[in-house]
Amino acid sequence: MLEIKNLHAVAGNREILRGVDLSVKEGETCVLFGPNGSGKSTLLSAIMGYSTSTITEGQIIFKGVDITHLPVDERAKMGIGMMMQRPPNVTGVKLGDLIRTTADEDCAEEVLSEASDFRMSGFLDRDINVGFSGGEIKRSELLQLTAQRPDFLMLDEPESGVDLQSIDLIGNKVHDLLYDQTKCRSGGPKHVSALVITHTGQILDYIGADKAYVMGEGQIRCTGRPTDLLNTIRKNGYGECDSCQHIVTIE
Ligand SMILES: Nc1ncnc2c1ncn2[C@@H]1O[C@H](COP(=O)(O)OP(=O)(O)OP(=O)(O)O)[C@@H](O)[C@H]1O
Ligand SMILES: [Mg+2]
Repeated sequence: MLEIKNLHAVAGNREILRGVDLSVKEGETCVLFGPNGSGKSTLLSAIMGYSTSTITEGQIIFKGVDITHLPVDERAKMGIGMMMQRPPNVTGVKLGDLIRTTADEDCAEEVLSEASDFRMSGFLDRDINVGFSGGEIKRSELLQLTAQRPDFLMLDEPESGVDLQSIDLIGNKVHDLLYDQTKCRSGGPKHVSALVITHTGQILDYIGADKAYVMGEGQIRCTGRPTDLLNTIRKNGYGECDSCQHIVTIE
């Protein structure tokens, strides 16, 4: 589904991605761990093509096509969707209008009706993200993804800043998106592929992750089973991931 080969990217005269190699197979859910500032969000933005960094070397292959230099809208049309860590405010564009524009014609009303289950009905007439709280932004991003129904889902810290009661709402919605159990679907259920950034691992209670990568200073340092890696990081921090010691690697 996705293959990243030796990806290098520069921002503000600094090399942020320093030769990233990573792959996500069809139907696979991969997790990306790594300390603050290690380049995780930069990597997701580079894959989406919504990037403040400039790719200087390497390739991003999606569904067999080299998308390294494709514009963001083309990537979205190919089936890539992303929940950003800090999405921009979009003044003058209502959330409901964006959903009506993004969703398939016969799907829009169903997605809009899902807004109430997702405690978002009062937000459809508001400018996207303007004045939204941190948790409301997360729910809004997920509702937008429900309209887009991507084949490859990237989530940047979906549970971060979400209150304990709303974690269930977010977790179950992510699960529905991954298994494509959204109310509006054509062609039957399918298992969407995903790359999910998390620090706490809370989202793993809702999704069956197959594989985890640990990023450190712009490179993939380690690969392993998500729970093994999370337990190691919790116990010993990220230092051990540099050499993959004591971690059951699966590749
Ligand atoms: N335009 C820029 N100029 C200089 N440094 C930048 C620029 N853009 C990003 N960076 C730096 O790149 C590094 C990686 O940022 P990124 O947002 O990818 O980290 P992250 O792994 O997602 O961290 P976090 O877990 O805190 O979200 C950071 O140190 C950040 O300050
Ligand atoms: Mg980040």
